[in-house]
Amino acid sequence: MTWKSIGIFDSGVGGLTVLRELMQVLPQEDTIYLGDTARVPYGTKSPETVTRYAEEIASFLFRRDIKLLVVACNTASAVALPALKRLLPIPVVGVIEPGARRAVEVTRSGRIGVIGTTGTIRSSAYTRAIKRLKPDAEVLTRACPLFVPLAEEGWTDNQVARLTAETYLKELQLAQVDTLVLGCTHYPLLKPIIGEIMGKEVTLVDSAHETALTVADILSRNSQLRPASEEGNHTNYVTDIPAGFVRIGTRFLGGKLGDVFQVVLDEGEEGL
Ligand code: DGL
Repeated sequence: MTWKSIGIFDSGVGGLTVLRELMQVLPQEDTIYLGDTARVPYGTKSPETVTRYAEEIASFLFRRDIKLLVVACNTASAVALPALKRLLPIPVVGVIEPGARRAVEVTRSGRIGVIGTTGTIRSSAYTRAIKRLKPDAEVLTRACPLFVPLAEEGWTDNQVARLTAETYLKELQLAQVDTLVLGCTHYPLLKPIIGEIMGKEVTLVDSAHETALTVADILSRNSQLRPASEEGNHTNYVTDIPAGFVRIGTRFLGGKLGDVFQVVLDEGEEGL
């Protein structure tokens, strides 16, 4: 019996934090990861552009015969998920809904903070998802665009990171949120400093683990889980030369990356 892979994509290297959780929850599954490194960042681009990029990647991965697609990028999940669900005849899982669900589970006061890229925050996707689950929740949001380059540079525990985080998080701290959603692939790398600034009483929610559990649940319900005795293979595609992805990716994945290949998305193929 041949088992299909799980497709997963992000604007670049950040989605490897989601892949890491997926590999922990479902070590038996094969994965195909695509990082759109030629066009990163998505967080500063318009919803139209991000949706077009996301559709191109979804078609590319679908042609590689995947059984489920994970949209690891928060910005793409925030603006393109409905379009991707319409496009593909397989389950498409974004990171917003699982993160919102977890935030609603852990909040005690109902005051929830959300941080993300400019695109994610502007879309209000987290606010809508949280309010769907808990209409009386109070959701406070803040875009923290500088966290992305800081995480990629490895500046996660120095004075620059601390000052940047203090400046971004001040309002949320004053508003006394008791839960903070890390609504961007890169923010888990800054978790220690964000936690230090927000204080012990504030629960930090990272969507990646919840997303992996959602994937496991869908595959199990569809009888598409590989036997637990198997060991997954992991292939990575990038749209720019692999060097930067390989260098930074190991830190984001927290382990050794599988093979990395450069690809051209459009391949001259029509539609799916
Ligand atoms: N992956 C993006 C996200 O989670 C962050 C990087 C970018 O802006 O492309 O929103």
